[in-house]
Amino acid sequence: MSLHLIILAAGKGTRMRSDLPKVLHQVAHAPLLVHALRAGQSLEPVSTTIVTGHGAKAVEAAALAYDPDVQCVRQNEQLGTAHAVDQARALLAEAEGDLVVLYGDTPFISAETITRMQEARAHHDVVVLGFEAAEPGKYGRLIMDGDGLARIVEFKDASEAERAVTFCNSGVVMADAKLVFDLISQVSNENASGEYYLTDLPALATARGLSATAIACDEAETLGVNSKADLAAAEAAFQAKARQELMELGVTLQAPETVFVGYDTHVGPETIIEPNVVFGPEVTIENGARIRAFSHLEGCHVSRDAIVGPYARLRPGAEIGEAAHIGNFVEVKNATIGEGAKANHLTYVGDASVGARTNIGAGTITCNYDGVMKHQTEIGQDAFIGSNTMLVAPVKVGDRAMTATATVVTKNVPDAAMAISRMEQVTKPGLAVKLFEILKAKNAKRQKGSE
Ligand code: UD1
Ligand code: MG
Repeated sequence: MSLHLIILAAGKGTRMRSDLPKVLHQVAHAPLLVHALRAGQSLEPVSTTIVTGHGAKAVEAAALAYDPDVQCVRQNEQLGTAHAVDQARALLAEAEGDLVVLYGDTPFISAETITRMQEARAHHDVVVLGFEAAEPGKYGRLIMDGDGLARIVEFKDASEAERAVTFCNSGVVMADAKLVFDLISQVSNENASGEYYLTDLPALATARGLSATAIACDEAETLGVNSKADLAAAEAAFQAKARQELMELGVTLQAPETVFVGYDTHVGPETIIEPNVVFGPEVTIENGARIRAFSHLEGCHVSRDAIVGPYARLRPGAEIGEAAHIGNFVEVKNATIGEGAKANHLTYVGDASVGARTNIGAGTITCNYDGVMKHQTEIGQDAFIGSNTMLVAPVKVGDRAMTATATVVTKNVPDAAMAISRMEQVTKPGLAVKLFEILKAKNAKRQKGSE
């Protein structure tokens, strides 16, 4: 059956104490909203609608950046979760099939759980996702009647007996799209909060002789983010799971708890990741690579058998070839490093291409920025770039070419040529000792003066 997805993301998130809309705070370098979107979209819904309100423009931009096909509707006043869903009424007027509602601040609902809700829909008109809460606190309580869900009662409206119930509402609900909007028309705001509660749906359905039920998921999946402490807990939960998954794929993590992955990090099997490695977004590491300690990688691709680090920084657009070596205190940005090429020490390679097997000496810098524009450096294969070479871009160094140590390369170096741009050395016999004596005498005089 076709499925339509609605994600509620209009709330302010006051407790985050931030100007950034709550759903744009990040876990593993992706906004909370993107986590919810990813979960919902793994079921291939025919439409996705985001309900925005606080910080609508920024939220819409983030949603569209993730998926240009999402539709956004505004809820200008936050009058409750049913009112939020109602904003999508016109957009989904023709929608056939089911509707599932997720929250933008609840990032960990799994695709399997939503699939189980779809299965339960075979026997019930309205399916709610619940969980056994360790601390039920202020969650809505699910009042079951055997297999059926009689109603959901919000904490504020619940009696003592109802508050004692530990089976709680996650907020995720699924029903036929037309039925959802039909039932929402009947929702009133006569309750303790004066809000239009989406949680009224099960009782309204059963009053019509339809059936509602609740299925349970692990409480960890329903973790919602309301504060910076919740955000940190969400990050920790995400990282713990992601590390586990990497190890199951055959990746060696020497100190798993010190490795931080991005939400979309791909690491091939037989890869070794040493302690204290941080992955930002859009990183792919191929089989058999080794990422050594204290390296930071984002927006990059590391090919098979390459070695990166320790203390390396790969920035967006870094493409590291097979068996290439990127060593300590080397930064690579928007640059291709050819197969077997090496840049092992204290180097910046930016806006550049480096051919296969080329060796970049310590302290080499591609001077890619003139203060206004960025320029390219092209280095051929089997070249040797001497230590402390400054490559003033735009510039090219050919195949099998060499640059002498400390050369400032301002003109192209043809294939097989050697470039050297430093003063010839002058050696003065005995001058060092003379200089020492002069300097020591000066120093003695100065110290005497200050006595
Ligand atoms: C809601 C449920 C509660 C459940 C809990 C789980 C209702 C009435 N209550 O309560 O049963 O246990 O979630 O976390 O649904 N939102 C809008 N527009 C609005 C109101 C809310 O977009 O007008 C969005 C919020 O941004 C948030 C989500 O809906 O993402 C839930 O709203 P929130 O105010 O957090 O509801 P709770 O009081 O937590
Ligand atoms: Mg909430």
